[in-house]
Amino acid sequence: MDYSKALAEALAPLCNVPATEIEEWFEKPKNPEMGDIAFPCFRLSKTLKKSPVEIANSLKCALTLPEGVIGAEAVAGYLNFRLDPARLSKTVLNEALQKGDAYGGADIGKGKTIVVEYSSINIAKPFHIGHLPTTAIGNSLANIYKALGYNVVRINHLGDWGTQFGKMLCAFEKWGDKPINEYSVKEMVNLYVRFNREAESDASLNEQARAWFRRLEAGDEAAVGLWKQMTSATLNEDSKVYERLNVSFDSYAGEAFYEDKMPAIIEELRETGISKVDQGATIVDLSEWNMPPCIILKSDGSTIYATRDIAAACYRKATYDFDKCLYVVAYQQDLHFRQFFKVLELMGRTWVKDCVHVKFGMVSMEEGTLSTRQGIVVYLEDVLNAAVDKTYEIICRKSPDLEDKRAAAEAVGVGAILWNALYSNRIKDVSFSFAKALNFDGETGPYVQYTHARACSVLRRAKYCKTGEVDYSRLNDPYSQELIKAIEAFPEQVKLAAEKYEPYLVARAVMNICSCFNKFYYEVRIMAEDNADRAARLALTDASRQVIKNGLTLLGLKAPERM
Ligand code: ARG
Repeated sequence: MDYSKALAEALAPLCNVPATEIEEWFEKPKNPEMGDIAFPCFRLSKTLKKSPVEIANSLKCALTLPEGVIGAEAVAGYLNFRLDPARLSKTVLNEALQKGDAYGGADIGKGKTIVVEYSSINIAKPFHIGHLPTTAIGNSLANIYKALGYNVVRINHLGDWGTQFGKMLCAFEKWGDKPINEYSVKEMVNLYVRFNREAESDASLNEQARAWFRRLEAGDEAAVGLWKQMTSATLNEDSKVYERLNVSFDSYAGEAFYEDKMPAIIEELRETGISKVDQGATIVDLSEWNMPPCIILKSDGSTIYATRDIAAACYRKATYDFDKCLYVVAYQQDLHFRQFFKVLELMGRTWVKDCVHVKFGMVSMEEGTLSTRQGIVVYLEDVLNAAVDKTYEIICRKSPDLEDKRAAAEAVGVGAILWNALYSNRIKDVSFSFAKALNFDGETGPYVQYTHARACSVLRRAKYCKTGEVDYSRLNDPYSQELIKAIEAFPEQVKLAAEKYEPYLVARAVMNICSCFNKFYYEVRIMAEDNADRAARLALTDASRQVIKNGLTLLGLKAPERM
């Protein structure tokens, strides 16, 4: 903001520190009563050879306050500045309203590429509730980086390779009763379950499955054809879920994609002596780092998950020349990531320092029929459907006159599920409850969307249109001021979310704006008699609407205007 720059420039000659550095030292005072900007004087103690308290006092006397700053107070080694509320309001609201959809964004990522791998579902397997955090967090991180000006590559690292596909093909050969591309994922799963059940009493099945997988590895046309159909049937079905979640990818290069890229890696590991043969298997010994060995080739010569990840990382570096490659994957896979990152380091791939395992906790279901307890898989689609149905009932009760109730229920029901996955810090295990996620008064997606719709409705009823000058000094009541500060805080939280890989910081910032807005809505008469008061409050309402919408968009939620 311009006033912090002006303040830094006024302080610079007194401190003998460049203004740009001083600007970085500014903090937010612990509580708003203390002021708007805090300057921590201890940073100068060493060079000025004085205590922070002395420095704060002498700076206060020597400093001429720039325009827009109306007071300075020395408190416990800090120099706290108070900004002119009218000026603060004007700066913040002008910026929010002028930037519009771009408010919260920046260009700090210009020229940098970030690969975000997320969702990474498995072919012929359920797209289940366990994939919700990776999908929601990864998509939101990608949106956030994009808004910050980065070049973003979204990758779905499909689980489409491995011996289980030999089993699938074998089962299909034996019991398939229609073309494989007509199978639903649930039917494919049933086929797989049947295979495992029958293989318990008929060991020859496993041998046949291995033979099928060998055919697949060898590129046998029939085997590959069936495998491709399984892949496209699965993606066809799952793309409906992605569409509803508003999630997309630039690449679906899954594990199979690296089949022909592994031999070079294996060769290099062998030649450099990084790998060794142990009981027929090729492994990289990681005991020096207190980790079990990373298996590269099993004793039967087949590659595994880790081999494919090593090849994938090298491919991504070569293809995208990323500044960072993020893997949004559950923390249960922590060891796997540490292992293959270490192997890449041993291979001299110094860029592996830019590969980050963005871990998250588990999801469990709290109630009812969609139980994960007895090992029953909960399909994400079923959760979405249930949320949308329940939301539809609520909307019918709350807004019987709403025109397109189905569309609103879809946006809000899906939004509730996404929000729930995004509102706590990543590593926390989240337990899911429909009652909590769909509570329109709790700290939920529906609450945020409802607040957005409320702001839209105020503007609609006021027939608001952006007019000329607004007298921002009218926004001097504490509710307006709190709300303006919450709006001001938003862009910083977007940057912080990117830095820490934590979309929940954006979610919290939006929640804060919503609760400030609702207080403002109840306590301050927006449609005031006085024209200037009304115009200023409507402008504040419009800015709130805009920022809530931007926050929802970054998190991957829709922002319906009516609900
Ligand atoms: N498909 C895997 C699963 O569902 C996740 C893949 C994670 N990504 C990776 N590069 N290993 O568990």
